[in-house]
Amino acid sequence: MAPPTASLKPVQELLEGGIVPESYLQHHTDDHDQLSVPLMDIPIIDYSLLFSSNSDELQKLRSALSSWGCFQLVNHGMTSELLDEVREMGKEFFKLPLEQKEKYSSKDGSLEGYGNDNSIRQANFNWNDKLHLQVYPQHKHQVLFWPQYPLNFRETLHEYSAKTKLVTNTLLKAMSSSLKLDENRFYELWGDDKEDEMHARFNFYPRCPNASQVVGLKAHTDGSAITILLQDKDIEGLQVLKDNQWFRVPIIPHALVIHVGDQLEIASNGIFKSPIHKVVINPQCDRISLAMLPLPNKEKEIGPFKELITEDRPQLFKRLKDYGQVYFKYMASEKRQIEFVKINYD
Ligand code: OGA
Ligand code: NI
Repeated sequence: MAPPTASLKPVQELLEGGIVPESYLQHHTDDHDQLSVPLMDIPIIDYSLLFSSNSDELQKLRSALSSWGCFQLVNHGMTSELLDEVREMGKEFFKLPLEQKEKYSSKDGSLEGYGNDNSIRQANFNWNDKLHLQVYPQHKHQVLFWPQYPLNFRETLHEYSAKTKLVTNTLLKAMSSSLKLDENRFYELWGDDKEDEMHARFNFYPRCPNASQVVGLKAHTDGSAITILLQDKDIEGLQVLKDNQWFRVPIIPHALVIHVGDQLEIASNGIFKSPIHKVVINPQCDRISLAMLPLPNKEKEIGPFKELITEDRPQLFKRLKDYGQVYFKYMASEKRQIEFVKINYD
């Protein structure tokens, strides 16, 4: 991935002067009244039923991925204690004094580390700080970015990553089966943890008195294969766009929100939809989340599976390597990045 350049001041530090800097104010927000945004009737998928022969869970999965492009996953086998611990250690990290967090700051334009993405945006900055760590392949760990405090951070992130990998592998199998493909089809896209990457992105959204004039994360799709999102336990903020309408994603405290990422939309030849989503800010409360992002190895060619190319559904996307590069190149574009790898794009 093309790394972002120099970082800007953490968003968390901006309100010391009491005024939101101009560059963070959104001049054309589409909806100032968040209360009027309807709650999404988000599909709920039961992980424990995905491979049971007498359930229609696979059909539900396929329908969720081709309509909303996301769902809540329940009964995934991760304990609520682990999920709470992960959220808590994220909060603890962002609560540390600035000098301590800065020990883990992104360096020389690296993607990994503590900081924010605002340096690669031209305007309309995001009200978001992050801690970005590559968790797989394990030999590529850059341990200098892994916080030593809270004390359980490294060990707990290892454990959570290993469990997320299992869930990802199983979901990708189920997704293949739901399209009547060989079970291992998506696994070929992402599944080898010695080759393929997984990134962890802790998001911190500080409260802001001008909440309606800033945006936590601007409308975007994810560049991953899929995204496994652990939301804040109490504070809502994620919204998904469908048919030109924004919907609030409800909180189910121990569920995981799963999104299709652009690379799965490409591999499925557009059958699965990588949803446009954004994050809004709460005026009173900080919000935390953790996005786990499985990314195919850059050397691997990805493209629509040949079984999914038919006369009725011609090949929609080009075949390419390193989608991450396209993703970052067009980050500031008004169009979705995936549009730039469409066949017949002009
Ligand atoms: C992301 C993202 C949503 C959230 O990290 O790409 O969309 O709720 N996060 O923080
Ligand atoms: Ni996202």
